[in-house]
Amino acid sequence: MSVIVKSQTEIRKMRESGRIVRRVLNAVKQAVAPGVSTMDLEKIAEKKIQELGAKPAFKGYYDYPCVLCTSVNDQIVHGIPNEKRVLKEGDIVSIDCGVVLDGYFGDAAITVPVGKIAPEHAKLLEVTQASLERAIGTMVIGNTVGDIGAAVQELVEKNGFSVVREFVGHGIGTRLHEDPQVPNFGVRGFGQKLKEGMVLAVEPMVNVGRPGARVLDDQWTAVTEDGSFSAHFEHCVAITKDGPVVLTAD
Ligand code: MF3
Ligand code: CO
Repeated sequence: MSVIVKSQTEIRKMRESGRIVRRVLNAVKQAVAPGVSTMDLEKIAEKKIQELGAKPAFKGYYDYPCVLCTSVNDQIVHGIPNEKRVLKEGDIVSIDCGVVLDGYFGDAAITVPVGKIAPEHAKLLEVTQASLERAIGTMVIGNTVGDIGAAVQELVEKNGFSVVREFVGHGIGTRLHEDPQVPNFGVRGFGQKLKEGMVLAVEPMVNVGRPGARVLDDQWTAVTEDGSFSAHFEHCVAITKDGPVVLTAD
């Protein structure tokens, strides 16, 4: 496989799917509170996606059962919504959503505190989000995929946290996952060169403790090996002559 570059028309379409993903995430975020189950969040997202005229991207993808991934505390990514997983004060929940509109995909994630959380976990959310913003700053024509990963890794490790290696960002377009892979670690100047028209989903997953991950018996939910909390933020970003354009912004 190789990298598919998008025309301006295609990027405009991806901005529309990205905007829908953001509206879904905003609606779900508002509903996060102690006593709410991750299945309640799934229901809100499913209704919102339909209201906005899009289709969910995750449901049915390799038989994934839901429109959201909801990953709580030590769950890194791909947590499956469940009516028995009721959020409580002090939890953190990552909400990952993808949609397809007129053949083009959007994919984004946020991590949200449930009520008051520990200062270390508040810092985890801040640093993970800042690492995504820092990575986006490197996404100009002529830089490389290694520059993106290095930008994430440097900030995360400087703050004493660690970057998950097993899951990476990706190209996105008429398919949810396209080339290239976009690791959240790397070496400046190495890897694929960034070209005009590339659209990449950048998605740092950051653990408080050690970087190791394992997948639970449900075959989806990835958790930290050491039980420490993990955060996840994701944006789709187009590489343009005018610099990076965040397609999943408000
Ligand atoms: N943002 C995640 C990813 O790109 C979510 C995929 S969930 C899946 O891997 F169900 F679609 F696999
Ligand atoms: Co993604």
